[in-house]
Amino acid sequence: MGTPWDARAYDLTSAPQQSWAEDVIARLLPLAPGSRVLDVGCGTGLVTERLLELAPGVRVIAVDASPEMTALARERLAGRAEVLCQDALALDVGEPVDAIVSTAALHWVPSHELLWRRLAAALRPGGVIEAQCGGAGNIARVREAIDSAARELAPELLGWSPWEFATPERTRERMLDAGFHTARCWLQEKPTEPGDPDAFVRTSILAAHLERLPAERREPFAAAVCERVRLPLDYVRLNISGVRG
Ligand SMILES: C[S@@+](CC[C@H](N)C(=O)[O-])C[C@H]1O[C@@H](n2cnc3c(N)ncnc32)[C@H](O)[C@@H]1O
Repeated sequence: MGTPWDARAYDLTSAPQQSWAEDVIARLLPLAPGSRVLDVGCGTGLVTERLLELAPGVRVIAVDASPEMTALARERLAGRAEVLCQDALALDVGEPVDAIVSTAALHWVPSHELLWRRLAAALRPGGVIEAQCGGAGNIARVREAIDSAARELAPELLGWSPWEFATPERTRERMLDAGFHTARCWLQEKPTEPGDPDAFVRTSILAAHLERLPAERREPFAAAVCERVRLPLDYVRLNISGVRG
């Protein structure tokens, strides 16, 4: 089962993710009028909505594995973009698209070899991908706080992670193996101070951890992590620019 997201809380607390997305959107420009663009891991559709403004007649397909996130994305994008509740590992959008965008999502997908094959298959030859997700070293200090709280309150979560924070080198290899002819991948530190750190940590970081605990142990664990986390949160983004061969 996928991570259950609190879509309303994400909408209210995801200012950091929205600001990171600006760099990705800028890399996509100029976009040809009428392009078909696929947003993978679209969440509540905040970034998807920005894609609609990038060129006249842009057609956007937004895909996310979470029913909660896609429900809110559909509300936001009604009649303006096609929203599909679909796992990226089973990506199927019919006719290959001209461009793929993905922001703050791919590190949640468990098998990156398969993921890159699916992304390549969804893109037309010469099509581009511009993406950003958690990369090697991402939130290392936050993960220490999670382990410290787990040691005390949730030993079954000790050392467990729902994320793949890939290196640029390994990602480039996976992309070339999957059929991209250009793959540029690089890490970027993004120290982050969310407006409401506790709500941010609960919503954007701990959702999968909390899902694995019985209901009565979730809040004490989340509170213990929040107590231990130090600002700024030590985000490291993996940026990805590629062209399909
Ligand atoms: C932090 S949110 C990012 C949402 C949006 N791109 C943004 O920047 O605001 C991560 C999203 O990735 C989605 N996701 C995680 N694993 C996925 C998968 N295997 N396939 C598709 N979407 C996935 C989650 O459901 C969630 O909506």
